[in-house]
Amino acid sequence: MTILQHYLEANRHVNEEHQSQELRIVEGAVPEALHGTLFRNGPGHLEHQGVGYQHLFDGDGMISAFAFEQGRVRYSNRFVRTKEFVAEEQAGRMLYRSFGTNLPGGFWRNFMKMNFKNAANTNVLYHGGELLALWEGGWPHRIDPATLETLERYDYGGVLRNDFSKIDELIMPELPFAAHPRLHPDTGVLHNFGTASGAQQRLLLYEVDAQGTARITHRQKMEALYFTHDYVLTAQGQHIFFLIPISFQIWQAFLGLKPPVDSLQRQPGQDIKILVIDGQGVQEYHTDYCFIFHFANGYKQEDGTLVVDAFTMPDFPLSFNLKQGFSGEEVDGAAGKLTRYYLEPGQPRARREQLSPYPSEFPAYHPALTGKPYRYVWGIGDDPANGRELVHGIVKFDLEQGKTEWRDYYPALTGEPVFVPRPGATQEDDGWLLLLTFHPEADQTSLHVLDARDLSTVAIAAMPHHIPLVFHGTWVPEVFSAPE
Ligand SMILES: [Fe+2]
Repeated sequence: MTILQHYLEANRHVNEEHQSQELRIVEGAVPEALHGTLFRNGPGHLEHQGVGYQHLFDGDGMISAFAFEQGRVRYSNRFVRTKEFVAEEQAGRMLYRSFGTNLPGGFWRNFMKMNFKNAANTNVLYHGGELLALWEGGWPHRIDPATLETLERYDYGGVLRNDFSKIDELIMPELPFAAHPRLHPDTGVLHNFGTASGAQQRLLLYEVDAQGTARITHRQKMEALYFTHDYVLTAQGQHIFFLIPISFQIWQAFLGLKPPVDSLQRQPGQDIKILVIDGQGVQEYHTDYCFIFHFANGYKQEDGTLVVDAFTMPDFPLSFNLKQGFSGEEVDGAAGKLTRYYLEPGQPRARREQLSPYPSEFPAYHPALTGKPYRYVWGIGDDPANGRELVHGIVKFDLEQGKTEWRDYYPALTGEPVFVPRPGATQEDDGWLLLLTFHPEADQTSLHVLDARDLSTVAIAAMPHHIPLVFHGTWVPEVFSAPE
């Protein structure tokens, strides 16, 4: 069995839900100064009611929480009870189409079925006193941070209701709230976006103040529904979007002919249009075709140049097809290369340079430096000399020195590292990385605490069950206790 097959099989079902279970520390010791909660989100099922999902992005969101307190770690996990999840559980069969999976039963079962499942599986956010499970195609779900109970589908007091027109409302009643918001480190304002489909495709910008009050700050008409997963915010307020010429053919998807992912039209050879949106208006730049899921960070230099760091891939990866993965067919690991773009005043074409040859993804950086000059990026990554299909390590990029450090975990697979600054630290890389690994031979998912400076192990805790490593998490410097 390939490592990918082993991993997918191990994570096919996550049926157990745990509440505050203390994890066994199998190596090292958890520092007492590491006090708070790591929340993670990702698909907990790779199949549902006996029907295999076709795509990695489709599985129902499952929140996991790791509470670090006085050198102990307590683990909880719960599926997000979206209304679709609850209805499917009650019906005992799949009722909704997903991003990459049509309903079993052929054309007529999917024809004109325009209600998609809100998978609630991509990221988790704590802001304004609320814990939210995020999914870029619809509304967030509000979660109790202590019990992980799903409280409600959350529209920010009506701000996310689509009332642009009757057609827009029919096609997409919920304005999407993307899974990659950026928190301004000085103002505490959360910035985010959504790509809304309808009679008119729109890119919407949102702001949520520190008390949790949201508003739409910008509506940008777009000629297509681009696949836009992430963006960059500068501390001065520039919102930078890469509109990659990969767009959903929405009528094919909505009519049920194809799941949305199969309706994606790629136009290699066409330029990426870069939009810079701020209080002054919209500026446009261009660059060559590639695909980007994630940006690390970006900032404005003193000369007005905007610097944007992204993980670029040659094209949209087709390798998240689960059928292919389960069958053991070769996949490309969908890892990018860290690339820096320079958007220079008066130069319509962005200049770019590759910063490291290491295949890598899922970036982490110091949260106080969002939108500001910064030095370090961590991520999952691998030594290019290995030429592996999958990613088996952790990388640290020193952008000032142009150095890449790498730690090998082969044959284990590594998930997104989350950086936690050490309380009172004065150095940018003084802190911990928290991540999950899956070891195929030991058949074990583990939680690792690394020293972010040199990637050495601080502690390893054994998980009571497998959970998929994929997607995103967040650190909250607070431990939540369940209500009495
Ligand atoms: Fe993402």
